[in-house]
Amino acid sequence: MTTQPTPIVLDVDTGVDDACALLLAALHPALDLRAVSCVGGNAPVDDVVRNTLRVLETAGRTDVPVARGAERPLLATPVDARHVHGDDGMGDLGWPPARAAADPRHAVELLRDVCREAAAEGRPVTLVPLAPLTNIALLLRTHPDVAPGIAEIVFMGGAAAAGNATASAEFNVFHDPEAAAIALDAAADLGIPLTMYGLDVFYQPVVPAELADELVAVGGRGPAELGGSLIRFQNARFNRSASTMGDAGAVCVVIDRGGIHTEPLPLRVELAGHWSRGRTIVDRRDWSGDLAHDPHGEAPVRVDVALEVDGARYTRLWVDTLLGRVGER
Ligand code: RIB
Ligand code: CA
Repeated sequence: MTTQPTPIVLDVDTGVDDACALLLAALHPALDLRAVSCVGGNAPVDDVVRNTLRVLETAGRTDVPVARGAERPLLATPVDARHVHGDDGMGDLGWPPARAAADPRHAVELLRDVCREAAAEGRPVTLVPLAPLTNIALLLRTHPDVAPGIAEIVFMGGAAAAGNATASAEFNVFHDPEAAAIALDAAADLGIPLTMYGLDVFYQPVVPAELADELVAVGGRGPAELGGSLIRFQNARFNRSASTMGDAGAVCVVIDRGGIHTEPLPLRVELAGHWSRGRTIVDRRDWSGDLAHDPHGEAPVRVDVALEVDGARYTRLWVDTLLGRVGER
């Protein structure tokens, strides 16, 4: 019996590594990419929409609706990451502009409609946020009825250990801590399972220069050339011989869950700390569960936190997909 492809929706701030994730989601035969919502983060939201449209056009997926979402965090002052992703947010590659236009709906409306349709057809989507969680917080609090249309949320964000935006906090959560806290709390309220693909695994699936060269050599301004060019940009910017595929790892989880090891752990988002604001406080205490003497008690949100990843396995999955080696869609 052939299994049907998994319905999937991405929320992005494209973004060099978001682009790597979009290519995988658009091309892998095990996935049915239903929609992409955009949010300000790595770059302003209009740049994110432009970059996302051009990636999907490169992958031959102009059938996938793309919608513009939140321009800024719910409360925090926006800070972009162009020092990482380039001035245009996608490696300053000069990649051809897309001809397709964005969906006229706001991203939250597109997400609402896609989730409701998924519920109606009895095939809930896997929601994969790869950016600040502003759209997701707005969706779940505004339209809690979408919950039956969401099988699970696999999000790139947070860290059980060190941050990257600050010593404490990972960029997506740091960019909008209130949204992260609301989105996770709402998902827990609505009984939507959560998997966190955080910094504890994010940097391990790397693509070496020689594989980037193989991808670029395919040429034709196609998905392989784009993917290899994105890795080359990171290698050059950070003077490395290999670079992470970043957000694409979270999409690999949906395709090949066996590539990660997770533990179900209580998690809180720090909102008030001066030096720790935006930190995902993952409770890894190995105890009998005697919370009686803990003034905070157990966090209400429990998340499957990815603590280990088979980086080479996910690198192979991403490269083989871009090279068209994983069977027909
Ligand atoms: O911390 C890494 C995350 O921040 C990734 O999603 C990257 O694209 C940026 O959004
Ligand atoms: Ca991202």
